[in-house]
Amino acid sequence: MTTSEIISETENETKKKQLYIKTYGCQMNVYDSNRMSDILLPLGFEMTEDLEKADMAIYNTCHIREKASEKLYSDLGRVRPHKVKRVARGEDMLIAVAGCTAQAEGAEVMRRAPYVDMVFGPQSYQELPEMVARAMRTKEKREDPLLRGAGVLNVDFPENPKFDTLPEMTNVEGASAFLSIQEGCDKFCHFCVVPYTRGAEYSRPVKDVLKDAKRLIELGVKEVTLLGQNVNAYHGESPDSASKEWGLGRLIQEIAEFDAFEIIRYITSHPRDVTQDLIDAHKDVKKLSPYLHLPVQSGSNRILKAMNRKHDRDFYFKLIDQFREARPDIAFSSDFIVGFPGEDERDHKETLDLIRRVNYAQAYSFKYSRRPGTPAWASEQQVDEGVKGERLAELQALLDEQKMAFNQKCVGQEMDVLFERKARHEGQLSGRSPYMQSVYVQANPRLINTVVPVRIIGCGNNSLTGEVVVLDN
Ligand code: SAH
Ligand code: SF4
Ligand code: F3S
Repeated sequence: MTTSEIISETENETKKKQLYIKTYGCQMNVYDSNRMSDILLPLGFEMTEDLEKADMAIYNTCHIREKASEKLYSDLGRVRPHKVKRVARGEDMLIAVAGCTAQAEGAEVMRRAPYVDMVFGPQSYQELPEMVARAMRTKEKREDPLLRGAGVLNVDFPENPKFDTLPEMTNVEGASAFLSIQEGCDKFCHFCVVPYTRGAEYSRPVKDVLKDAKRLIELGVKEVTLLGQNVNAYHGESPDSASKEWGLGRLIQEIAEFDAFEIIRYITSHPRDVTQDLIDAHKDVKKLSPYLHLPVQSGSNRILKAMNRKHDRDFYFKLIDQFREARPDIAFSSDFIVGFPGEDERDHKETLDLIRRVNYAQAYSFKYSRRPGTPAWASEQQVDEGVKGERLAELQALLDEQKMAFNQKCVGQEMDVLFERKARHEGQLSGRSPYMQSVYVQANPRLINTVVPVRIIGCGNNSLTGEVVVLDN
């Protein structure tokens, strides 16, 4: 390469605007952040991980628990001095708050952090180019460049779901990718903000999902995770005349037809939406991971009812049995909330009992957090924070024990692992087991982004170690 070529390349690069994105919350947000960069990169942006260099910073937020929202305000406090510095230098900085907190309390964000230029909810990303242009125009008109807040506030739920108008996916790192097939929720569990922040349940037509699947294959993806707030509520418009709609089980069968996909996963499922089709898929589709995240939240029938989960513990146990029958090596994960309003010691013991009976590979557990606008917020039977803390510790001790026992059971087994990156130790690669544990293996870096059979030879609390079964020639 000649000097002039290097210079012109450097010049080109300096012309690009630097885009910083911070993602909070669930996989839906991870997917959305990637899609936002798909939209913005062709407009002259490139990604940076350095906030100081950012011409635009997007905070893609989560509203699920109080702590998640508070995190945003502390991060915004941290970005403000960067903006002050840049403005003093005569440069510009666009600060955007996207995602579920933006949707739930956009006006409050603008009030608490007036130096934020754009606030928009999860259903409006297709309008990003127009919103960015509008924020820039508003800025030009303001006298104090720091206080140009409220340039854009967009928390509408548009009629056309965002998926229909997003550009083709380009931003995929490595060989594992999310594919969003369903969004929103109509279940209105009494603790949860999601139906308000993401809007009504929507399933993408099968033909659009398959188009994106093919695109992921072009991008070199070998492991696909089908995503949705309640992914098994999926009921996408059928591509053929044999049926009107396809459920998740049928869709998985079709996705499995693509040879390029070696591993298929899906998340998050709701017990009420499990169908025979889905159970059958676990039996018939070998590349479907034998792992199911099936949140139950509580083991007490009284609390399940108060939460509006619309099923009881026996219903859950039956599902677990059916999945185990279909796929004997399947392992389960769940979410638990402790200290939901009205929960007493007996309810808590029932949850511990459910955990013992199911025996989880791992699980997430949280103290109940009061969310404005949800029915449980107003309950007068709020549980004392100290009590919540004690119950959570007891529950997590049991879950940790089960996780460790599960990890130990994996030792000696052979499993397919997609190597994702070099690990910290010299010569080691890391990837995920079918059960989502991190696996560390001494292996040739050429194996990164390939699926390799690995024999598990050791385990810790949070990870496994293994060795490659078939050596690469
Ligand atoms: N759709 C999934 C869960 C989505 S939200 C389901 O129905 O199971 C992810 C998890 O956050 C929930 O499973 C729940 O355990 C937790 N969560 C939601 N709202 C919460 C709240 N107000 N306080 C504490 N945890 C909460
Ligand atoms: Fe929230 Fe319940 Fe919907 Fe899950 S099913 S997203 S917990 S309202
Ligand atoms: Fe959080 Fe919204 Fe996901 S509230 S958990 S980012 S759907």
